[in-house]
Amino acid sequence: MSLYRIRAFDREADAASFRCGQALLDEYIHRYASQDVRRNVARVFIATPESDARQLAGFFTLSAGSVSCSDLPESLAKKLPRYPIPVALIGRLAVATEFQGKGLGSILLADACRKVAYASATLAVAGIVVDAKDAAATAFYRHFGFLNLPGQPARLLLPATAFRT
Ligand SMILES: CC(C)(COP(=O)(O)OP(=O)(O)OC[C@H]1O[C@@H](n2cnc3c(N)ncnc32)[C@H](O)[C@@H]1OP(=O)(O)O)[C@@H](O)C(=O)NCCC(=O)NCCS
Repeated sequence: MSLYRIRAFDREADAASFRCGQALLDEYIHRYASQDVRRNVARVFIATPESDARQLAGFFTLSAGSVSCSDLPESLAKKLPRYPIPVALIGRLAVATEFQGKGLGSILLADACRKVAYASATLAVAGIVVDAKDAAATAFYRHFGFLNLPGQPARLLLPATAFRT
């Protein structure tokens, strides 16, 4: 049984108390997340502990995006057409400080991949892209098989073959 529930961002969650150690990510969930949802530029999903539907333990965002074929590693690029390649974008992913190091980051990432895999039956994507905020975040994503994009140190991609069955 999961210790967390993941649902779309709503007013019940206490976003104002969220702190993850990255001021820009905190500011995003405090000020901009609901606006992004309203404007249809991101879907925002939150995790709360089973026992408290108000406490915001973590969140991630999903949007549609594209990458140029020339930005992909050669091994992937050679299998793809030369026009812009559709991808899903995990724009932000963060776990509240008191919940870090307990597996929630991997739960959120797995849930994001599951959602993209499901959606990609209807709207094709060739991979999932993330923009890592720092070296620790890059290491976190690499741990799960994301590949660095050449010439873009902060940008990583998980090819669709890794999350589609
Ligand atoms: C990065 C972050 C999302 C990780 O979440 P977390 O809940 O602490 O991570 P988990 O406990 O789920 O760790 C999952 C796995 O990733 C590994 N991991 C976590 N942080 C890592 C890091 N910095 N480098 C390498 N591996 C890392 C863990 O060792 C663990 O491995 P295991 O499954 O083999 O045991 C979280 O620390 C965070 O929100 N940090 C601040 C905001 C941030 O940097 N977000 C990144 C988006 S740009």
